[in-house]
Amino acid sequence: MPPEPLSDDVVRARSLARYCRRAASYDSTCGPTWPIRERAIASLQLQPGQVVLDVACGTGLSLPLLRAAVGEAGRVYGFDQSPQMLARATARVDAAGWQNVCLIETAAQALKLPEAVDALLFHYTHDILRSPAAVDRLLALARPGAMVAIAGIKYFPGWLAPLNPWVYFKNRAYNGSPGELASPWDRIAPRLTQWQWAPTQFGMGYLASGRVDDPSGRER
Ligand SMILES: C[S@@+](CC[C@H](N)C(=O)[O-])C[C@H]1O[C@@H](n2cnc3c(N)ncnc32)[C@H](O)[C@@H]1O
Repeated sequence: MPPEPLSDDVVRARSLARYCRRAASYDSTCGPTWPIRERAIASLQLQPGQVVLDVACGTGLSLPLLRAAVGEAGRVYGFDQSPQMLARATARVDAAGWQNVCLIETAAQALKLPEAVDALLFHYTHDILRSPAAVDRLLALARPGAMVAIAGIKYFPGWLAPLNPWVYFKNRAYNGSPGELASPWDRIAPRLTQWQWAPTQFGMGYLASGRVDDPSGRER
């Protein structure tokens, strides 16, 4: 029998403890995945004036790219539950002087926004993708037809699978729910249309996209 899934409270507490320790060095570990971040953001096809949500924005590494894509007239929302990570994102926003980037310290499961968003970026947000309550909450904040881009870590397929214990422990260093890495998108993918994904990093990563369902745009 598969193990009982961990509760959101347990996963969140583990994550908070990890990012309390990791926040100061986090940015220095993100260089190798920078091209994936750029590709994920490009796949959102953001337009000037749009509203975008940076899910679990961490230290805010994606904020300059998102802000550049939506411009002065758009809005960028970012949230994270880790005070240490979000403090770094806030410093980035203050240093840039952006008036249209709004950061919120909260769990994904409890996020509230004053408006619906046109696009959501899930960049290395494994714990959130594994939480049905978090996925529900975030998709409820999107307008019908909103773009969704997801990048993250997953298990190697095929002949590289013997390396997967290493993938597990690598993911464990950053997440409270370290397993479920065969298809980490399988809770959100059925909720989206135009779903597609492709492997990255020899199969140890993935880049995916889709759209929030828009009943008014469906063929009848
Ligand atoms: C690997 S970091 C990714 C940060 C950022 N998206 C990036 O690409 O650099 C994962 C982030 O998810 C946040 N996080 C994990 N679970 C969360 C939850 N339930 N609600 C809000 N933030 C969460 C952590 O605090 C951490 O900052």
